[in-house]
Amino acid sequence: MKKQPIFIANWKMSLAPAEEIALARKFSDAVGDFGGAETVICPSFLSLSAIASVFEKSGIQIGAQDVFWQNSGSYTGEISPAFLVTAGCRYAIIGHSERRQNLGETDEMVNRKIHACLDANITPIVCVGESRLERKNNHTDFVISAQLEGALTGVDLVGNEKIILAYEPIWAIGSGNAVEPEEAAPVLAVMKQTVVNLWPPSIAENNVRYIYGGSVDAENASRFRSLSSLNGFLIGGASLTVRDFVSIIKNFL
Ligand code: PGA
Repeated sequence: MKKQPIFIANWKMSLAPAEEIALARKFSDAVGDFGGAETVICPSFLSLSAIASVFEKSGIQIGAQDVFWQNSGSYTGEISPAFLVTAGCRYAIIGHSERRQNLGETDEMVNRKIHACLDANITPIVCVGESRLERKNNHTDFVISAQLEGALTGVDLVGNEKIILAYEPIWAIGSGNAVEPEEAAPVLAVMKQTVVNLWPPSIAENNVRYIYGGSVDAENASRFRSLSSLNGFLIGGASLTVRDFVSIIKNFL
């Protein structure tokens, strides 16, 4: 059975909250029903609640760009999975390379965040990816499987619990150059194999979706249709324009 495609917009820290809310209104008017595909917008924490109201009558869902692993307590500055749920969040991006690189996020922290999200009924969108140097040294497969194994340690998906694994090569993000689909295919296979080694076949098959992120745009999206194992995209820059976001969806489906 074909998995439900998913298109996730990562707005990063690109817009001020008022601009995010204005953009969300445009999305709500323009992003319709794409044959059952899911659309998720991840704005800054500050706009989550307001944007949840904007999307109330649309099919668009909201996600957070990060999350903490405790539900409450003395953790200055953090946002808990429970708080995200009250804001209407069903998804959270975890382990984005910008956090790993700029804020020292480790596989262990990623792992704790995944556990906390699943406990709170939030679907984790887990990012893994190699640097340009790791790629040049042919370490991509090793890096990807190590990141995934670290992230998924002790994680058992039960029942209907879902997880989304995003292949996000660091060198491709924001560069204007997406990975070629032929190059992404073996990496997706490594991700799949890592998952198959961890979980029972039915969970590995039904509860995990694989997406790609890194300079996805309206033009290159159609090329990824050749990858049968790919279920959608995590989109940064091109998700700040309604027309580009909609074109990406249409060109991939
Ligand atoms: P990009 O970002 O589409 O701007 O390359 C993707 C991401 O960082 O998730």
